[in-house]
Amino acid sequence: MSGFEASAACAEMMDRIDPLAQFRHRFQIPTVEGRQQVYFLGNSLGLQPVTVRQQVDRILGQWSQLGVEAFFHADLPWMELPSLSYPVLSKIIGCLPTELTVMSQLTVNLHLLMASFYQPKAHRYKILCEAKAFPSDQYMMASQVRLHGYDPNQAIIEVSPPPGEHCIREQDILEAIDQHADSLALIFWGGVNYYTGQVFDMAAIAHAAHQAGARVGFDLAHAAGNIPLALHDWDVDFAAWCHYKYLNGGPGAVAGAYVHERHHAEAQTPRLNGWWGNDPQTRFEMAKAHQPSPTAEAWQVSTPSPILHACLQASLDLFAEAGWDRIQEKTLRLSQWLRFLLDQIEDKFPDKGFHCITPRQAHGCQASLLTGANGKKMFDCLTSEGIFADWREPNVIRLAPVPLYNSFSEVWRCYEVFCHFLSTAHSDQLCPFWPIQRVT
Ligand SMILES: Cc1ncc(COP(=O)(O)O)c(C=O)c1O
Repeated sequence: MSGFEASAACAEMMDRIDPLAQFRHRFQIPTVEGRQQVYFLGNSLGLQPVTVRQQVDRILGQWSQLGVEAFFHADLPWMELPSLSYPVLSKIIGCLPTELTVMSQLTVNLHLLMASFYQPKAHRYKILCEAKAFPSDQYMMASQVRLHGYDPNQAIIEVSPPPGEHCIREQDILEAIDQHADSLALIFWGGVNYYTGQVFDMAAIAHAAHQAGARVGFDLAHAAGNIPLALHDWDVDFAAWCHYKYLNGGPGAVAGAYVHERHHAEAQTPRLNGWWGNDPQTRFEMAKAHQPSPTAEAWQVSTPSPILHACLQASLDLFAEAGWDRIQEKTLRLSQWLRFLLDQIEDKFPDKGFHCITPRQAHGCQASLLTGANGKKMFDCLTSEGIFADWREPNVIRLAPVPLYNSFSEVWRCYEVFCHFLSTAHSDQLCPFWPIQRVT
């Protein structure tokens, strides 16, 4: 990986020339005893943009002043809040602004989309998915299959990594699609695996799914706002994602859903309707028959929360200001820097450290480290040294430096803590207190 040298000076130099460095100050960085922490958990819950409080206060003020009238008569009418996010999100998701909507929560949105796009027929009833998908996705698929009267053990086909490996081989996915082609109703996949950080070739999966006569949908929880996406061009049928990870929309943030435009006007597509999916032009006529919105908004069901939309918009404004292209460039550089330093550690401490299982060609933020017997201690050491990562049972540390609020120097600091721990770990102690400098 060109141009790197394992030194603090190299990290500082990259921070100096980072065009996005100042965006860090637009987020609330968690502190412990007044010291800013190194927050590598953007893959779990993104940090709070500093403007969120003001945006939420604005909505609360409008509610107190205008009551329900704020839906139509606030300075920025609440009715318009969801669609404000579409221009930025459509770039991030890689689709037309009319192909996405913002609503509800991720697993709920997946159920709503499955109601439309998982339509098993006598011989075509199977779902092909990744083994060890996020548990909520597994529960969602199994319950959908049962709703249609099938047995999940027969209807859900999982593709696993080869024995002794952690990531799924692309070739195995394509072969499985081919093998089950006649019985597949749907391929459902995570764009980025939550455990390993593996980025899947969604274009190839979508193409193979359609060749097999099946539909294709993605869970983009760990992909949206992290890696480049082009759902429209990849011809993906549907997808859903959350906004609380890389998109910093806040805990339980309102989620996203995408439906390819070719499905919008399909009269035969079943859908679970609610009044918010009715065409806004006629919604308040309160007619008996549902008239679907001509866009992906037809999949909306219930009244949106202006508070949740305001939280999300505060973050999307920062994405718009920073520019999605520049954000992706920094993601790539940061993750290459992280990988370069992890390689150095693996070389220096081949037997007692960790092995990074995230495939090298992945270019998202996350790196997953498979640890050994001292893994939990190593993780506790990171935490005690002010580095917030996460621990996934049974033995993985996930690190996700993100472009808008993490720096190259923070990655360097993480490297130093690992090296210090590993060079002292034989003493069977947690590493002693390492001087934590304020990161500005
Ligand atoms: C890959 C993936 N899918 C689904 C979910 C569930 O999301 P929610 O609780 O918002 O429905 C998560 C949550 O972290 C996730 O990581």
